[in-house]
Order: sequence, then structure tokens, then C-alpha cells
Amino acid sequence: MAVTINTLRELKQKGEAFSALTSYDSTFAQVVSEAGVDVILIGDSLGMVLQGNDSTLPVTMEHMIYHTSCVAKGNKGSLIMADMPFMSYGTVADALDNAAELMRAGAHMVKLEGTDWMRDTIEALSERGVPVCAHLGLTPQFVNKFGGYKVQGRDDKAAEAMIEHACQLEAAGADIILLECVPAPLAARITQAVKAPVIGIGAGSDTDGQVLVLHDMLGVTPGRKPRFVKNFLADTASIPEAIAAYAKAVKERTFPAEEHTFKA
Ligand code: KIV
Ligand code: NA
Repeated sequence: MAVTINTLRELKQKGEAFSALTSYDSTFAQVVSEAGVDVILIGDSLGMVLQGNDSTLPVTMEHMIYHTSCVAKGNKGSLIMADMPFMSYGTVADALDNAAELMRAGAHMVKLEGTDWMRDTIEALSERGVPVCAHLGLTPQFVNKFGGYKVQGRDDKAAEAMIEHACQLEAAGADIILLECVPAPLAARITQAVKAPVIGIGAGSDTDGQVLVLHDMLGVTPGRKPRFVKNFLADTASIPEAIAAYAKAVKERTFPAEEHTFKA
């Protein structure tokens, strides 16, 4: 049966973890969905992973529509989430037009990076039938404001603000919250504070779901690996097996382990 936002809500209520992975093309979308991964994310990480840029900022709506349509054709029942690229939701009107394009291309929901300023945008999308995932913490589209890729929410003030923002965005209509690179205790508090399922990456093992970039978990990303990455191909014989091992490890909460987690 196809995964919907209701499936994820039910899993949260039952305390069962769910898995998500990025895919950018039809073949991998099919492998990922057939391996039992619940959510496929067409991440704007494709700007780095596929296009070789040093940030996600060069990604355009045209790129996202193209990759979303490729993924949609290979998908076998996972929930398809598409990233809205940098400045494609700078105004509510832009957000509506651009989200519509991604939904037409086959997305079931969209993901936006930001804090409380996104309330009106999320409300407008939600009211018009577009489920939204609100991405908080290390939001890579803000790399130039952050001055680098850094763990977020480390001091008390930032931590309290992040909890507040997650609650506000849920109240505005966000169906999923995604936390990237935040200390595990803060991610655990946010996961308890909202009814919406919370997906983590570098956010510890207490979130409702986990996500990784496909190339990272297959060990093919060049250069230094972030702390939260695990190569699942290293202990398996094939890519489908590696992806299935990831889905199983998330379900059993054996991934992420301590070594993948920011404690404070
Ligand atoms: O673009 C992406 O792949 C993402 C995940 C890292 C959450 O946003
Ligand atoms: Na992204």
C-alpha cells in the first residue's frame, strides 16, 4: 500500500520509526521504494551530488521539476517529497506557483527551509492542498548567513527558538518537520513537542524518522564524510541490499548510533 502522510502519522503514534532517502532518477527511485524506504526525497542536494556545485543555491525550479518527474516514474509506493529550491518560495505567490509545478511533476508534498517567517507560506500551501515539510536546524540554503555548515541549536536561546518555530510551523499546517544537524536532546524535545512526524539527519535516534543522501549512504560521495553518515554498502553485497539494510536499521533504531550523533 502506498505511503501517505497518514501512514507516517500512524507510525509516529505507534512509536515505529520510518526511513527516507534521497533519489534523483527513476532507477534509484524504484530500488529505494522496493527496498521499503517510506519516503523518497528529491533533495536540492542534487545541486552538489549531481551537479558538482559547492552549495544547493544554484538549483532551479527547472532542475527540481525534471528530477521530480524522473523519480515519480520509478516510484513504487513511497511518499514523494520534493525540495523547493533557493528563493522559489520568497513570496507566498511564488511558493504557490512553484509548489504547483512540483506537485504536477509527481511530488506528494514539498519541503521548505526556514523558521517562523514561513507561517503564511505554509498556511497558504496547506489550505490549497499541498502538504509541507518544514526543514529546520542546518538549512543548507542559508549557508551564507550561517557562514558555513554548522550544527544548529547548540545554545539555550537557539534551542528554545527552534522548539518554538517547529510548533508555530506545525500550527500553520506543516505535516512533517525535518531537523538537520541539531543536538540529539533538542531533536528529542522537538519530536515530543509536535504531533507531526519529525525526520532527522544528524539529529540523533529519537526522531520519528531518518533521512540520508543516497550517495552518502552508498559511500560514493568524495571527500570528508559528515559525522552522521554511514556507508551501508560496506557490509552488504549490492546496492539494493545496502538500501534494504538502511531501511531495516532505521526501523530497528540501530541507526543512527552514538558515533553518528551530535550530543550537544
Ligand atoms: O537536499 C537534501 O538532500 C536534503 C536532505 C539532506 C534532508 O534536504
Ligand atoms: Na535539501
